[in-house]
Amino acid sequence: MTSSAESIPTDSPNSLTARFEYVRAVTVSLTGTLMAEDTVVQSMPDVSPTKWHLAHVTWLFERFVLEPRIDGYRRYDDNFDFLFNSYYYTAGQMHARPKRGLLSRPTLAEILDYRKHVDEAMCRLLGKRADDDDLCFLTTLGLNHEQQHQELLLTDIKHVFSCNPMQPAVNSALPSPPKVAATPLSFSGVEGGIQKTGANGDDFCYDNETPRHDALLHDHSIADRLVTNAEFLEFVRAGGYSNCAIWLSDGWAKINDSGWNRPLYWGEDLATEFTLGGMREIDPQAPVSHVSFYEADAYARWAEARLPTEFEWEHAANAHDVDGNFFDRGYWQPAAAVCGQQYFGDVWEWTSSSYAPYPGFRPLAGSLGEYNGKFMCNQMTVRGGSSVTSRDHMRASYRSFFYPDARWQFLGFRLARDGNR
Ligand SMILES: [Fe+2]
Repeated sequence: MTSSAESIPTDSPNSLTARFEYVRAVTVSLTGTLMAEDTVVQSMPDVSPTKWHLAHVTWLFERFVLEPRIDGYRRYDDNFDFLFNSYYYTAGQMHARPKRGLLSRPTLAEILDYRKHVDEAMCRLLGKRADDDDLCFLTTLGLNHEQQHQELLLTDIKHVFSCNPMQPAVNSALPSPPKVAATPLSFSGVEGGIQKTGANGDDFCYDNETPRHDALLHDHSIADRLVTNAEFLEFVRAGGYSNCAIWLSDGWAKINDSGWNRPLYWGEDLATEFTLGGMREIDPQAPVSHVSFYEADAYARWAEARLPTEFEWEHAANAHDVDGNFFDRGYWQPAAAVCGQQYFGDVWEWTSSSYAPYPGFRPLAGSLGEYNGKFMCNQMTVRGGSSVTSRDHMRASYRSFFYPDARWQFLGFRLARDGNR
């Protein structure tokens, strides 16, 4: 998030209210094919139940926007401050993350009623305090936060359903991406030098994208598209998962401890994969996804290449447009490169960069300072945005982050090489 209210979008007050209603409605619409039972399940600690997502994003508006601004604000339920706080320790204690799936109560109906309670209060407040820059900034932040949870809601329910022996589809009517030949793999050479990195502050951004600063790039070349399923299958068939020489020590331990020998959602037949539309044939030309940093790194070493740094990635991505995502494509899967270079809208891309603060980084004041900065240890930066990332979030400076063994998000990669030839 930006660290000042001046850099919020210049929406009129009415349009911010309309935007609030739109984003909140999108979240609920993503649950349209789910049954109440589906929304309770937590398949692993990283995954949150759909119902919890619906409540948590609402709690953020209640706790950080409504309560500090409305005298005598009536909470929907005092228990929710404990149940739906995620990780804001400065705001109080919270229910343990791995136990979110135990919350059969409150019911889904109560959570939807909670959303209505908070929506009505938010719209009243936005209507009355149209000139409150701080309110507009926090509302914008809350909406961006909710859009991040829209993506998590989809990736989490995908994991939940993948663990169900019936392997239900989140939406069986989802079309598959067009099956076309990916563009041949090529690399663009880049001459080294000092490059500006980070958000320029003109539009909304998170605090971890700032401050804009100089980064040193060495001569390198970067692939013009993502690594495909066909290419990754070649790695699997060549014994990539049993060749200790190409794995980082932590990665080698992880794949052996966990028995990994293929991407998360590939079937044992190496021909089918679990998708939000159910089990489908793997498209060999589409980018590989649901691989960990360890797998991406090992593949790159096997291919006599490496992963790009986040600074190399951003420099290249600055020259490319957003291809689109599920809102305008209609399918919720990464697609083969037919045009463009897949910098946005297919998979989050692992980089070789540790998630760390930029020089001069300052988190937001107060509890919302816990949003990004405190996670800058032991995680890797990913860039771009996936096929289920909100389009509003796709920008070259956007940074997300995951532990190197994470696979449940749409995580893929492109290759880079030293030298610009
Ligand atoms: Fe959150």
